[in-house]
Amino acid sequence: MKNQKAKWGIVGTANIAKKALIPGIRDSDSSELYAVGSRDGARAKRFAKEFEIPESYGSYEGLLDDPRVEFVYIPLPNHLHHEWTIKSLKRGKHVLCEKPLGTTAGEVREMFEAAKENDVKLMEAFMYRFHPQVLRVKELIDRGEIGEPKFFRGAFSFPLVNQDREDDIRWKEEMGGGSLLDLGTYSINTVRYLFDDEPRKVFARSSYHPDHTADAETQATMEFPGDRTATFDSSFLLSDRANFEVVSSSGAIRGFNTYGPGRYKRLNVEIERGNSREIETVKGVDEYSLEVDELLDAASKDRKPKITREDSMNQARVLDAVKESAENQSWVEV
Ligand SMILES: NC(=O)c1ccc[n+]([C@@H]2O[C@H](COP(=O)([O-])OP(=O)(O)OC[C@H]3O[C@@H](n4cnc5c(N)ncnc54)[C@H](OP(=O)(O)O)[C@@H]3O)[C@@H](O)[C@H]2O)c1
Repeated sequence: MKNQKAKWGIVGTANIAKKALIPGIRDSDSSELYAVGSRDGARAKRFAKEFEIPESYGSYEGLLDDPRVEFVYIPLPNHLHHEWTIKSLKRGKHVLCEKPLGTTAGEVREMFEAAKENDVKLMEAFMYRFHPQVLRVKELIDRGEIGEPKFFRGAFSFPLVNQDREDDIRWKEEMGGGSLLDLGTYSINTVRYLFDDEPRKVFARSSYHPDHTADAETQATMEFPGDRTATFDSSFLLSDRANFEVVSSSGAIRGFNTYGPGRYKRLNVEIERGNSREIETVKGVDEYSLEVDELLDAASKDRKPKITREDSMNQARVLDAVKESAENQSWVEV
């Protein structure tokens, strides 16, 4: 392993970069934050000054043209992930791109093709997969602590109406916004991970706020092989929830506050076996720092990152099926 830290560039001046990825890169022993690119040069300079980033560019192209940038983080509005990920990969950069990787499975396929052609790594930034809470739930399920899981329920919501970002990209359908792609995608990812399987078909319903184009709420049911079922709801209208439960005939495991971006938090796992109930508290980590380290390690060892191409492709296929079902009001095969 070389002694020099890997240089990261950030495309755009997103909130999530400020809140989570920048502290995550700082926490990493092997990465350093080197450059930021913004559509606006003055904004890039201000951002660089505020976060002590050595280099700033008044365009995304400028950042990508800098040969010193080895790793790129893409926290753009969802409809721009495809374009800027592919541009980064073609310049030989490894890419950590925010979820959802693309707005359709077709986009995601093209993104991974570009990674393959240019011999670089691409990973979807599902940070919660690095948190010990979900790893502990997975361990309990795989050890058969509650027997055979038959049902999953995921809930992720918060009232976007009450927030102060008036022109929020998440309300805009044309920018890949909406509760499904922003929030529901986590529940889909969680059940796919915990069941270690893919749904065969889905049925979904979406509803809309009169002032906005993207879905305000989506609820879906997913049928898994082995007579297993999953449901989830995502909403920009309901109160704060970021929970899930996995249920068997003899017990249940529940995770709370799983997807809220936060650092060093303690998270609970509730385990129910028959009439007994136990709460385990899991010590938090900086899951954003771990995803940064994961991509770096995968690149340096030329191995698959933990969130693989197959995983992200299957995830995108389920999202496509949920969208189609909500549009047609019918069951859709995945
Ligand atoms: N993993 C997590 O915990 C987590 C949490 C929240 C969001 N996310 C994901 O992160 C991504 C960004 O979300 P965010 O809420 O942080 O976004 P945001 O604050 O709205 O930032 C998006 C950035 O994209 C750039 N941009 C380029 N074209 C734009 C356009 N037409 N309109 C608005 N901005 C544009 C802007 O940077 P410049 O103007 O400087 O170019 C802007 O700062 C999304 O994919 C989202 O799903 C992940």
